[in-house]
Amino acid sequence: MPKALPRLQEPPLIGSLRSFRNERLELFNRVRRECGELGLFRVGPLSIMLVNSSRALQEVTSLHADAFEGGLAVNALLPIFGRYSLVLLPNKEHRTYRKIMAPTFQPRRVSMFAEPMVKATLEAQARWTDGQEIDVGQEMLRLTMRIVGKTLLGLEVLDEADDFGAALTTCLEYSNHLVANIVPVPLWLPTKRNRELKKALAFIRGMLMEKLSSRRHAGCPATQDFASMLMGVRGEDGQGLSDEQLRDNLIFIFSAGYETSANTLAWTWYLLSKHPEVYERLRKEVDEVLQGRAPTYEDLASLPYVHQVVKEVMRIYPVAYFFGREARRDVEIDGYQVPKGTFAAVCPYTLHRNPEYFPDPERFDPDRFAPEQESKLPKYAYLPFGAGVHACLGVHFFMIEAPLLLATLVQRVHIDVLPGQTVKPVVEVTLRPSRILARVHHRS
Ligand code: HEM
Repeated sequence: MPKALPRLQEPPLIGSLRSFRNERLELFNRVRRECGELGLFRVGPLSIMLVNSSRALQEVTSLHADAFEGGLAVNALLPIFGRYSLVLLPNKEHRTYRKIMAPTFQPRRVSMFAEPMVKATLEAQARWTDGQEIDVGQEMLRLTMRIVGKTLLGLEVLDEADDFGAALTTCLEYSNHLVANIVPVPLWLPTKRNRELKKALAFIRGMLMEKLSSRRHAGCPATQDFASMLMGVRGEDGQGLSDEQLRDNLIFIFSAGYETSANTLAWTWYLLSKHPEVYERLRKEVDEVLQGRAPTYEDLASLPYVHQVVKEVMRIYPVAYFFGREARRDVEIDGYQVPKGTFAAVCPYTLHRNPEYFPDPERFDPDRFAPEQESKLPKYAYLPFGAGVHACLGVHFFMIEAPLLLATLVQRVHIDVLPGQTVKPVVEVTLRPSRILARVHHRS
């Protein structure tokens, strides 16, 4: 007989709505503390089950993944990413299209993007004058947007990418508003925010459809980018993706590929500034391996500490801090009864703070990911990229991009975060740091 899920003590009617809006990370920590590895809380009418045990995580994301689909978060994002976006597809279609699209994201394919990644980073660094003050988050956003613009669509930065970027920023702001407000203002109401979103979406979709159609007319595209690779994929029936399917997935990949990456890199500079000994060791490894030349894909295997730093940043500040889907039927998870309609949520932020796997969890220590330590971690203890049927397809792209970008910058500049700032996590669709100001010093 399955047990009832442990429940958080909370006010009647609205439940934890206020904490969910104003102090979300503290709420998740409280659920973990008071309920244990599986805990239920309410946000208005919505029941949310926070999943923190490895067995339950495996069941929710893989073994019983067929019982979980859609839900409020997925529905809210549909107007932006569109109904064909892989991450939002109903389970049956998701299985088919993930199989078709996944090979495009394999290391062998995405490794060819290493060169444009390093080139964009060198250009960004060359624009900074010695002693210049920068907003770290904004600079990382600009850089990752350029990289995604180039690798996804062959966009040659600036004007085109910037208009596109501005429209994407409007979409991102809209999704942040949705995440904060739970019950969104219907899109048909002519509010300022709704009008701006519709205008931005019309621009993005129009531009993508135009590009796809001109590529179809031109035959085989000259550039090798995500768009051309996805145009070439075929299912078992020999069918490729329609322009609408390509458009929606390109919008999602663009959004998934720049903001998450930029926020992780911004957290990296912040943590390095707080841990000069880690910064020094990182610089030593980069200098010794590269001997002054720009890094390449082949160098990545010789830069283990750079990878360890990125992984530890993603443990402490997993930018995808909360995601999940709704139970479409009653289902038993790890011996507990999960009623239909419950939203099963994975929260890497609390998961990564389990002292059983990460002793003294608030301590920043990249050696936790030294190969002999990392190999001892249980499978579901560390999930910055999700797990199971919806696990991130961009993981290889990011694990090429972040180390290359970090190595390139560490080699050429010192990013000196200005003292006296209070940097806090800002909890939106992703977990980003508040503004970080730094001074850039060129290294001789
Ligand atoms: C720091 C960087 C990133 C993080 C933390 C991240 C995290 C995630 C997570 C947690 C999911 C699962 C979401 C869910 O279950 O609803 C996901 C899905 C996905 N990500 Fe990423 N991501 C990152 C970068 C990227 C990049 C660079 C790309 C593309 C180049 C990408 C493409 C995707 C795709 C296509 C999916 C959907 C997979 C599916 O539903 O089958 N991501 N990502």
